[in-house]
Amino acid sequence: MSVFMNTYHRLPVTFTRGEGSWLFDAEGKKYLDFGSGIAVNCLGHNYPPLVKAVSAQAAKLIHTCNYYLSDISLAFAEKLVAACAKGGMKNVFLANSGAEANEGACKIARKYSLKKYGEGRHRIVTLKGSFHGRTITTLAATGQDKFHQDFGPFTEGFVYIPGGDIDALDRALDRNSVAGLLMEVVQGESGIIPQTREYVEKAAALCAERDILLMFDEVQCGMGRTGSFLAYEQYGVSGDVTTLAKGIAGGLPAGAVLAGEKAQDVLGPGDHGSTFGGNPLAAAAGCVVLDTVNHPAFLAEITRKGRKFMDTIRGWKHPGLKEVRGMGLMIACDIEGDAWPVLEAGIAAAGNGKPGLLFLSAGPNTLRFLPPYTISDAEIEEGLEILKSLLNQAES
Ligand SMILES: Cc1ncc(COP(=O)(O)O)c(C=O)c1O
Repeated sequence: MSVFMNTYHRLPVTFTRGEGSWLFDAEGKKYLDFGSGIAVNCLGHNYPPLVKAVSAQAAKLIHTCNYYLSDISLAFAEKLVAACAKGGMKNVFLANSGAEANEGACKIARKYSLKKYGEGRHRIVTLKGSFHGRTITTLAATGQDKFHQDFGPFTEGFVYIPGGDIDALDRALDRNSVAGLLMEVVQGESGIIPQTREYVEKAAALCAERDILLMFDEVQCGMGRTGSFLAYEQYGVSGDVTTLAKGIAGGLPAGAVLAGEKAQDVLGPGDHGSTFGGNPLAAAAGCVVLDTVNHPAFLAEITRKGRKFMDTIRGWKHPGLKEVRGMGLMIACDIEGDAWPVLEAGIAAAGNGKPGLLFLSAGPNTLRFLPPYTISDAEIEEGLEILKSLLNQAES
């Protein structure tokens, strides 16, 4: 019997150490990490400047409650707002996770609308196939039936529309009942599905015209993952609210809700809070991530590596592969068979001096790759050779 609740489909490996793009298990077997802890270890494992900053911070100050400010959480917040300025962001609330960030976004939309228009205009529109978190409200926001079993009743007022359908978007964004639209411009959990530029532009125009808050969930696709700091920058639009988490502190738990001009003053003292939000250790790590990632040359490398990754796989013309798609280092491959056995084979490949390969699934027949931004070209090539042999194995 396990001491853990049985909530995860775990693969049969226990890690003890990480270094760069590699993880090591208790027997010393090594694994090339194409998953980065689901987009979290964006600078790889134990990135030396991050280890140094977190260690130094631990020796100085680990926690203060939010009655007070700490120098490091202020520095982190300033860097974060500056990095999101292109997306229209002006200020930030620091949280611990993606779900918590999205909860904050929903509260902002509801209060904005209530104060301006009164009761009854509280709906939040989200997209089918979206994933926004595991709390009762963020499950309600998630537009996938499979997550809605067993846990109702959910927070009321969420409406789901199919992505890409501009008529459905126009109908759903009712100016009398809707407070906000929450969307991932590139859906992660459901298989790296990018929205079209036309759709996102139309969403921005309709939200602006009807005074509905446009809220981007950048928990997975933000922080440089797609080759721009925020993925929606590539769509040429600004948002009213943006949520971030995962890679934001390179492996320490952190999340953030950012607000643009319209929404920046919605929350007041006592409206929202989080004991660990802005925690100094996470903030110290976050400063290193922002100082490293938020540079045009670094972001351009993410785009280049992503292209190399996708071009290599496409070049195989492997019969087991149906489609390869992605933006930056956020990549998916649809395959003929089941994804999970391929993940298991990636673990089993480790041994006899040979490395294993770690990656993720996104739906039953989709492999998902979110490698660290610091991965080298040689490591991409080595990992893709392993992937090719796993696909050959799955075929035979
Ligand atoms: C787009 C998106 N939003 C929100 C979440 C929830 O984040 P967390 O698990 O940190 O609560 C996730 C997690 O996978 C996500 O991919």
